[in-house]
Amino acid sequence: MTTAEAWTKSDWRAKPRVQMPEYLDAGALGAVEAQLAKYPPLVFAGEARRLKRELGEVARGEAFLLQGGDCAESFAEFSADTIRDTFKVMLQMAMVLTYGAKVPVVKVGRMAGQFAKPRSAPTEVKDGVELPSYRGDIINELDFTPEARIPNPSKMLQAYTQAAASLNLVRAFSTGGFADIHRVHSWTLGFTDGEDAARYRDMANRIQDSLDFMTAAGLTGETNHELSSVDFYTSHEALLLEYEEALCRLDSTSGKWLAGSGHMIWIGDRTRQPDGAHVEFARGVQNPIGLKCGPTTTAEDLKVLMARLNPENEEGRLTLIARFGAGSVGDHLPRLIKTVREEGANVVWSCDPMHGNTIKSASGYKTRPFDSVLREVQEFFAIHRAEGTVPGGVHFEMTGKDVTECTGGVRAVTDEDLSSRYHTACDPRLNATQSLELAFLVAEELSASREANRAVG
Ligand code: PEP
Ligand code: CO
Repeated sequence: MTTAEAWTKSDWRAKPRVQMPEYLDAGALGAVEAQLAKYPPLVFAGEARRLKRELGEVARGEAFLLQGGDCAESFAEFSADTIRDTFKVMLQMAMVLTYGAKVPVVKVGRMAGQFAKPRSAPTEVKDGVELPSYRGDIINELDFTPEARIPNPSKMLQAYTQAAASLNLVRAFSTGGFADIHRVHSWTLGFTDGEDAARYRDMANRIQDSLDFMTAAGLTGETNHELSSVDFYTSHEALLLEYEEALCRLDSTSGKWLAGSGHMIWIGDRTRQPDGAHVEFARGVQNPIGLKCGPTTTAEDLKVLMARLNPENEEGRLTLIARFGAGSVGDHLPRLIKTVREEGANVVWSCDPMHGNTIKSASGYKTRPFDSVLREVQEFFAIHRAEGTVPGGVHFEMTGKDVTECTGGVRAVTDEDLSSRYHTACDPRLNATQSLELAFLVAEELSASREANRAVG
């Protein structure tokens, strides 16, 4: 059975769905869907296939996946500066990883489509008033009023527009000179003090030195494509299936369907029911698929999910994004690695050290301690070293802005600091310095793993 024959883009509608809004006005919803269906796709099949090939390299340990960006993109925070800063930090992190661990980095933003959010409760209570939960700017509004919380289908059109503009800017940054490695010094992002800034500048100097040497030796010039541009991909959780279906397109080259909303889509920890709507949609599109795996992921479910989402066992098709929480990785990752091994499945293993480490601070903010985030990453790498499997990548909620949402880091954010620049509409993100610091620490882990692999191989 090939997926193209046995699947249509609306089949998910016959399956049980969770975490999706109930739109009140079917006519308005239908009109938005019809409009979106006429719009151009945001990404092209050839790009999704190239990302899949690169993720195949990640699965074999020949490259490393860096996925990161906002928990939830916001209409209010949308600006060129916000996109530029996140893009810049991701380039810096990728450079730290490439230079530190001598491995190419596949860069995937949680960007240009990351608008819909699963919630732990369907309603929210404030001062005795109960309202439906906020579900992301593509669905309803954060304001705590009954009108703001009504799901409004026309928000899908605004999300599409913002995604298109974001992607346009990212494409310009990627190839228009901004990402040219010769500009490595100009990516310093206002890091003027702190240990990270010094480490980063030192690394940038060493890279500049290597470039100067290569130029002197006639090995490279300003026009070298590999050094003057980057491949940067987009991804988001495919939660709002009306939006996903409306942007789904048949690719004439391969005869297969494509989720035109982003290069990679993932299925969240709350929507991965093997017989549910989200798995049904994702299984039929050719994009690389991410699958969040949490403490409640059973071996049985994982087997069914891998068979359903990757029936041809294609390399790079499926990324398992482990998110267990610091201190719990050892309880779950080895058993899931065993399942993958028993099935002979091709997967990329990535580590999301964010979603298992959310706590409420003494000052009342939802936060994540930097130490817990780091510890989960270290546990992830240690287990893969012990198992002889490939730690393929990391998945962060982060921003290029100097926010105070996660505590800790070298330029320590304290509980009391959280209120000063807490901007997220949803989960707390690492700020620019914390992200870069983490990249240095991941580079160390990755180098150690690659050394260990070489010693064995
Ligand atoms: C997310 O990535 O924003 C998210 C909600 O994650 P999870 O599904 O793993 O909880
Ligand atoms: Co989140």
